[in-house]
Amino acid sequence: MLHTNTVATRTGAFHFNGEVAHVSSILDGKTVVVTGAASGIGRAIAIGAARHGAKAVIVSDVEQTPKEGGEPATDAIEAIGGTARFHRADVTSRSEVDDLVAAADEFGGVDVMVCNAGITLADDGADVREEDYRRLMAVNLDGVLFGAQAAARTMKTAGRQGSIVLMGSMGGVVGAGFTVAYSTSKGGVVLMAKALADALGPDGIRVNSICPGVIDTHLLRNTPAVASAADGFRQRTPLRRMGQPSEIGDAVAWLGSDLSSFVTGIALLVDGGLTSVV
Ligand SMILES: NC(=O)c1ccc[n+]([C@@H]2O[C@H](COP(=O)([O-])OP(=O)(O)OC[C@H]3O[C@@H](n4cnc5c(N)ncnc54)[C@H](O)[C@@H]3O)[C@@H](O)[C@H]2O)c1
Repeated sequence: MLHTNTVATRTGAFHFNGEVAHVSSILDGKTVVVTGAASGIGRAIAIGAARHGAKAVIVSDVEQTPKEGGEPATDAIEAIGGTARFHRADVTSRSEVDDLVAAADEFGGVDVMVCNAGITLADDGADVREEDYRRLMAVNLDGVLFGAQAAARTMKTAGRQGSIVLMGSMGGVVGAGFTVAYSTSKGGVVLMAKALADALGPDGIRVNSICPGVIDTHLLRNTPAVASAADGFRQRTPLRRMGQPSEIGDAVAWLGSDLSSFVTGIALLVDGGLTSVV
């Protein structure tokens, strides 16, 4: 059912509280699982999947409340007529990630797996502390691999030609002295997508990474070194602004959809052009 604040327009788009609620049907019939989806980019990917017509969205995180405030992603999805479930999972636990992917069975199994959960460190220079480095790798790298493995296993068993999207970063393509462990993890994600694309391509499963530039989220605002560099980044970005989480959501929807059916192994930069210029 569409929410009462929803209005159909002549273009067929639906508006919800001033936002375009239903923008396309490119994910029609697909079940989408998103990790780290309570807040920020993951929340926008989950809501974006519903706006692009997903059959169901499994919103997963260690907690359900958005760090930036606002309503939980599941409520936002249901308000625009979508179907959503919240499933708590810590991506550093292989068994919790396996259970998460199994939760999609209620809707016929996962078609699109988005391994988005990631963290930054307050102090991530050349002398990054070992315990911080290992904590970051556990989330940003191990957690992404566990998600891709769990999804690939169920897709193969079902003979489903699914799409797996791994959350990289422009920090996985270019380095910065204040994000040593973070860049190392995201560079690993970019190469993980290429290697998994080769391993899973014969089964028709596509694996790509997405590499956002500077996106306005809680993570950005609460990582002091990144937040203080944000203005400089914005001035050097050809489009002269930060990105919005929903712009990553739209790019992920395309990678998850059949519109990108011959695309695998890429690192899709969504950065306003920042990494294209010196
Ligand atoms: N914001 C940016 O500018 C930017 C740029 C490039 C890449 N990214 C990447 O995008 C992803 C999302 O970032 P964001 O800016 O939305 O951050 P965010 O902090 O707003 O959201 C991250 C979410 O991940 C969840 N999370 C953290 N550890 C987890 C764990 N162990 N298991 C499950 N969930 C966990 C958090 O609870 C949070 O809801 C990250 O992988 C990040 O590295 C962000």
